[in-house]
Amino acid sequence: MDGNGRWATQRGLPRTAGHIEGAKAVRATVETAARADVTTLTLYAFSSANWARPPAEIAALMRLFGQYLFTETRRCVEQSIRINVIGRRDRLSENLLRSIEQSERSSAAGSGMLLRIAVDYSSQHSIVQAARRAGPDADLTTEAFHRLLHEVDHCAYPTSEVDLLIRTGNERRLSDFLLWECAFAELHFSDCLWPDFDDQRFRCALEDYGGRQRRYGGLAADTR
Ligand code: IPE
Ligand code: MG
Repeated sequence: MDGNGRWATQRGLPRTAGHIEGAKAVRATVETAARADVTTLTLYAFSSANWARPPAEIAALMRLFGQYLFTETRRCVEQSIRINVIGRRDRLSENLLRSIEQSERSSAAGSGMLLRIAVDYSSQHSIVQAARRAGPDADLTTEAFHRLLHEVDHCAYPTSEVDLLIRTGNERRLSDFLLWECAFAELHFSDCLWPDFDDQRFRCALEDYGGRQRRYGGLAADTR
């Protein structure tokens, strides 16, 4: 979710206005993804690197996130969507932690899409923490390390690797997002600023993904 600030600046508005508009795009995207039978949707709401922003912007983002959980949890429960917040929890406010725990608890019985929201998330940090937990285990497998990453990130449900990564805001970088899980991810870059990301653009990304041939380093079936 990138481009909120630029969206606001282009309109002569404060950056916070872009984040408010961005939150509306989140609601629409969650609903489109659930309707399109996406099994897991992970949104990068706040990276650990975002702590470098001005305190007022950080406060606004945290406030918006709390509001989102407050207003959207019930809608998610109605659509059987489970909510899981991933990332560090040692630097979030007590209030936000309570909201997170409540949203996760009240949506836990859902059988539909898993909505993962990454907050204070840094893939490099997670990988280092998981490596520390693993210790000097010579028999460590890829699967076991993946499970350790899940633990570190507070992933409440096991997930497989990322199939499709969508980056908005006309940037071409990963920004420390799910680096391990994106090992074989297909990448889709959109020039659109996040608040403008809508149903049509999401479907366009899914269509793009649908046309990709995933070989995982092997050969296509018809060239074997
Ligand atoms: C939203 O976009 C990302 C976050 C929620 C932190 P940005 O705030 O990065 O917007 P730009 O890149 O400055 O336009
Ligand atoms: Mg940005």
